[in-house]
Amino acid sequence: MKQILEELRKRRERARQGGGEARVQAQHAKGKLTARERIDLLLDEGSFEEFDMFVEHRITEFGMADQRIPGDGVVTGWGAINGRTVFVFSKDFTVFGGSLSSAHAEKILKMQRQAMKVGAPIIGLFDAGGARIQEGVAALGGYADIFLENTLASGVIPQISVIMGPCAGGDVYSPAITDFIFMVKDTSYMYVTGPDVVKTVTHEDVSHADLGGYRVHAMKSGVAHGGFENDLEALTQVRRLVDFLPASNREKAPRRESCDDPVRDEPSLDTLIPGNPNKAYDIKELILKVVDEADFFEISPDFARNIVVGFARMDGQTVGIVANQPQVLAGVLDIDASTKAARFVRFCDAFEIALITFVDVPGFMPGTKQEQGGLIRHGAKLLFAYAEATVPKITLITRKAYGGAYDVMASKHLRGDINYAWPTAEIAVMGSKGAVEIIFRAETGDPEAIAVREAEYKAQFANPFVAAQRGFIDDVIMPHGTRRRIVRALRNLEGKQLQNPWKKHDNIPL
Ligand code: HXC
Repeated sequence: MKQILEELRKRRERARQGGGEARVQAQHAKGKLTARERIDLLLDEGSFEEFDMFVEHRITEFGMADQRIPGDGVVTGWGAINGRTVFVFSKDFTVFGGSLSSAHAEKILKMQRQAMKVGAPIIGLFDAGGARIQEGVAALGGYADIFLENTLASGVIPQISVIMGPCAGGDVYSPAITDFIFMVKDTSYMYVTGPDVVKTVTHEDVSHADLGGYRVHAMKSGVAHGGFENDLEALTQVRRLVDFLPASNREKAPRRESCDDPVRDEPSLDTLIPGNPNKAYDIKELILKVVDEADFFEISPDFARNIVVGFARMDGQTVGIVANQPQVLAGVLDIDASTKAARFVRFCDAFEIALITFVDVPGFMPGTKQEQGGLIRHGAKLLFAYAEATVPKITLITRKAYGGAYDVMASKHLRGDINYAWPTAEIAVMGSKGAVEIIFRAETGDPEAIAVREAEYKAQFANPFVAAQRGFIDDVIMPHGTRRRIVRALRNLEGKQLQNPWKKHDNIPL
């Protein structure tokens, strides 16, 4: 008996060594942790239970029959984050570069299916070289099976991907279907085809970082939703994000008791809006001042910064915040801002997270670049996302709400449940200058007459009361009471029931 137990201990020890000491050292020398070290940091201490530690590949070609490493390049299992179950898979770069064989794929698939059955989030930690080249087509099938499970799980359980090393070929499309992708700043990159293939096909010389590093994906392409300095920070922040989320679409997000008084007044908000309408202010100041304990988890902070989205809590309840940012491009809605916010709104709606929208928007971005890029199609995504969302929707217009952007930003007309405005709100078809230049075109040569017309237009429309008279705004509120009013609105909407007509699925403009 003792011998049998010893055999198990040895087998486990062998599996834990991964690709061996030299490769582990090389991993550390690159500033990266190993697959198991990462899992230890991600999960509550001692909570990890591993599955399929002894799985090996079945490849016999290219001398692979003699090269079998238990676990086959991915560590899988489940554990807890602050006591709540999550499933995890962590690619082991020290074993065949973390590449995916069919056996490796089966391990991930088992976790995906288990997470769906149980109703718990799944987190993938990526550090891998794509399909196992020695296996070929079977590996391709393994990827497709994973993509299918990712797709079926979308909107059912939260799926999070963390890119912590290379992520190439087949490995990029699984993260791409998940809800959130985070990258580690100097050690990770993602691309469909690497620099060598790029050189052959397009004759471009490009580095890994310039092709698919953090700066590319978190700032320009929008593929990644954030970047962190190192493995430790990335994993700590994922723990923080998971705390905001429900385990699945069958459950509500956990309520977190807060010491922050739900009826707290915030007098400084009475002076947040500058006297000069063309002056910017930081919308994050408003967010941090109204949410519980100023705790805000921002999604995509470095991409489309003209709109701010992220999770917070109010009165202990998770909320999704969407806010135009007057400090960047005056908070205008462009292609990137529309797609960023639309995806976030849909995530919140899928997982029953109430939406709070802060509006200060001068309209959609004019110009050939935007129109030729499909602003109509991409802007429609945000419109569509808000319109179809059935979760509680609370909207506050702080200053500008002009034109189509007024409609889009969770207006009453798109089934906003409770729509507030500050007295500084201006709800109009457009700004007074633009409006007067069109309707009094004949007078444009006379600056004095135009100034008078502009003042008239402003007095008539640059306020919230015209909209409030029509019931488009439910109440004009004092800025200092914003937190109290939103908390009350959330409580009021706790029992909200609303269903869209039956359909197989919708056809959001993609
Ligand atoms: C088998 C692989 C591998 C792979 C790396 N390794 N990628 N083994 N299949 N795809 C092994 C290496 O042989 C090496 O083994 C170890 O992992 C570390 O690799 P290095 O090249 O030494 O590391 P590094 O210099 O850091 O470069 C990492 C890398 C590079 C950029 C990821 O290895 C690379 O370019 N790999 C191939 C990427 C690729 O083209 N993948 C196929 C994509 S096609 P030893 O024994 O020396 O430690 C694809 C199709 C699916 O994925 C599409 C589905 C939609």
